[in-house]
Amino acid sequence: MAWRAFVFQRLLRLDQLHHGLKARFRVGRHELLLVCVEQEIFIINALCPHAGAELARGTLTGYQLRCPGHGQLFDLRESGRAGQPGCYPVIYDGQWVGVELPAG
Ligand code: FES
Repeated sequence: MAWRAFVFQRLLRLDQLHHGLKARFRVGRHELLLVCVEQEIFIINALCPHAGAELARGTLTGYQLRCPGHGQLFDLRESGRAGQPGCYPVIYDGQWVGVELPAG
């Protein structure tokens, strides 16, 4: 198994988080969408796995995010599974929330 390094990338301060927040980021080649549901944070691929629509423009209802492209409904708790948007590890560092991404 090959060694793989990861780097922490700060995204937002904790005091910037609020229920219903959808914040879009591009970090290197990664297209990220941070979504806040109550006190939970999800960081998913910002582009729909069906045809690449911007999930940041989708409608959030509870944990359900409806894609603006063709209306597919994704449950944020299922992200990372087959047919769902990819997900990234949410990392907290002091007053920051961020993501761990492969280096390089
Ligand atoms: S692009 Fe998202 S459902 Fe088609």
